Amino acid sequence: GRTAALIPAAGSGTRLGLGPKAFVEVAGRSLLARSVAALAPLVDEVLVALPEGLELPEDLPARAIVGGPTRQESVHRLLRATSAEIVLVHDAARPFLPTNVVHALLEAIPETGAATAALPVADTLVRGEGGRWGGVVPREGLWAVQTPQGFRRELLLRAHQAAHEEGFGATDDAGLVNRLGVPVTLVPGDARLFKVTAPGDLALAHAVAAVWDA
Ligand code: CTP
Ligand code: MG
Repeated sequence: GRTAALIPAAGSGTRLGLGPKAFVEVAGRSLLARSVAALAPLVDEVLVALPEGLELPEDLPARAIVGGPTRQESVHRLLRATSAEIVLVHDAARPFLPTNVVHALLEAIPETGAATAALPVADTLVRGEGGRWGGVVPREGLWAVQTPQGFRRELLLRAHQAAHEEGFGATDDAGLVNRLGVPVTLVPGDARLFKVTAPGDLALAHAVAAVWDA
């Protein structure tokens, strides 16, 4: 069956503060161009959700649609714009995607129909209570969820339709699938897959780009 990469890139980048985030450049290349370039050689088609009124740079091997008001709605629209059997959903805001993570994900999807990249949590975790130390949350067994996340398209579409009808909102797709009772396989992610969210993340992105682009 065919495989599609779905890239939600329709956010406004409020926290970064440099305009629509997918178009922000790191070392001369946009976050979107980096994400598309990582996925295009590994899939049959790349679909990108963009903010209304913005166009896909013409040198990118992808097809663009208009995104929605939330990430979830953007992914829902992307899902309805493809007929691929397998979909990989990946944030444009995670520009450094190692090929081996995509391969591991594609291998894991057939197990249950859903898999995500994730990393074991490394920091000590503590519950804050009114700005004070409220007690340690054992980090054993805790994972930080990343993208890409991979699914049988029909399964993810069912999960989105259910969430939409019930008014349930989430910041990732694997959570919507797990809500249906379907197990999600955790695949080792990569520290370089961090999401560019706040201004401080740009310094890190520049440091990674210096090695990545070499
Ligand atoms: N996204 C999207 N459609 C939206 C909102 C977000 O496609 N309506 C995408 C973003 O473009 C990004 C990914 O979802 O690639 C993760 O979202 P986030 O990091 O929150 O990006 P923004 O929403 O752009 O940033 P902010 O929340 O700071 O405004
Ligand atoms: Mg956002």
